[in-house]
Amino acid sequence: MEKLLINGGKRLTGTIKVGGAKNAAVAILPAALLSDSPCVISNLPYIDDVIVISRIMEQLNARVAMIGPGKAVVNATGQIDCKATSDMIKKMRGSIYLLGALLGREGRVEMLLPGGCEIGARPIDQHIKGFEALGASIDISHGTIKAQADKLVGAEIYLDVVSVGATINIMLAAVKAEGMTTIVNAAKEPHVVDVANFLNAMGANVKGAGTDTIRIKGVEKLTGCEYSIIPDQIEAGTYMIAAAATGGDITVKGVIPKHLESVTAKLLEMGMEVIERDDSIRVKGTGRPRKVTIKTLPYPGFPTDLQQPTTSLLSICDGVSIINESVWESRFRHVEELRRMGADIKVEDRIAIIQGVEKLTGASVVATDLRAGVALVIAGLMAEGLTEIENVHFIDRGYERIEEKLAGLGADIRRVADGEAALKVVNSDAVV
Ligand code: EPU
Repeated sequence: MEKLLINGGKRLTGTIKVGGAKNAAVAILPAALLSDSPCVISNLPYIDDVIVISRIMEQLNARVAMIGPGKAVVNATGQIDCKATSDMIKKMRGSIYLLGALLGREGRVEMLLPGGCEIGARPIDQHIKGFEALGASIDISHGTIKAQADKLVGAEIYLDVVSVGATINIMLAAVKAEGMTTIVNAAKEPHVVDVANFLNAMGANVKGAGTDTIRIKGVEKLTGCEYSIIPDQIEAGTYMIAAAATGGDITVKGVIPKHLESVTAKLLEMGMEVIERDDSIRVKGTGRPRKVTIKTLPYPGFPTDLQQPTTSLLSICDGVSIINESVWESRFRHVEELRRMGADIKVEDRIAIIQGVEKLTGASVVATDLRAGVALVIAGLMAEGLTEIENVHFIDRGYERIEEKLAGLGADIRRVADGEAALKVVNSDAVV
């Protein structure tokens, strides 16, 4: 078990480049199973979720070979196993996309139900509704889902909730179905568009991604392509928040500023300076943030995946801020840890009421999920003294070399093995 140690209070400055989008990568890799020849995928982030989905695909007989930094060839030209029973499936949510990809490719799939961060119930009824509308029969028992179809035929599918996962999974199952599929009330996230662009690069006919109606005209076959994944807007947003949190001045490079409009808007409302260029965003922290009200929503609303780091930033706001988490029902587990650091936050159901305090103080805290972990990193950077964060493996699922990137901006942060951390805490001047 590793930990992160942060000696807070340092102003972060400089330029940072974000990697490829996690939530696009974990869908695009399985999507490559639909191709009858190899696909070259670049700008892949080197994070645990990408490593895990690649390993699962290899166990199914696909070959995922790294051919350069962030560049892989996926070769699924051989016989692919449609029974996915690896325990790794339970480690991550993205494994759900094997369902749509294998159903679309082979007309059948048997798989353990996927896991992922514990942030709510994470039902898959809308995925199932979509597969059934395309003609698949579904059986769920003993923690395993089986889907099977003699033939997939296009259909009109109305999603009862706006779901990223269901939208992508239905696209994967429908690209080779007979006729036209329409997804109504589709998710509009940038990674949904990225997956659609990847499918089209392989020869699919997907139109309307990025709007709430996606039309997919089935094609007979998909062939290999070269594709570069979009930048990760959540990683970018995290570093924008880090700039605001430390009174810093950070330029986040290699981003699509449009994908971050909601974050930019809220940082401006907090009184921060934000300067957008073609492919970079510069954030200058200007002191304690002004109080704001935020409601998380599907894109283009404020992303739930940045709610947790934003809570950390607002813990030192001037006044009372309100955050309404409308996407996930239990995504406030980081709050208890922030309280250990001196935050004054009450949570009532899906609403956090944040009474800003003047400062946070370092403490020993535990990450309970990926974005909770990164929220604690932000808190540690802001806090006076030493913060020790346990369960770093959650952060590694979605952030590449986070401590190296932050250290490059002037943070005093390092990764240590469990025993070493304890020793340093005992010896540290920062501990009172
Ligand atoms: N929902 C249903 N039925 C379904 C599917 C979803 O009711 O069949 C509900 C969920 O309970 C939730 C809402 O719809 O309340 C949205 O869920 P969605 O399906 O959009 O989420 P997801 O596909 O499981 C992805 C990301 C999450 C991100 C959400 C929302 C991946 C691998 N995960 O999850 O990312 O929070 O979309 O944007 O793409 C993260 O990166 O930290 C993370 C959790």
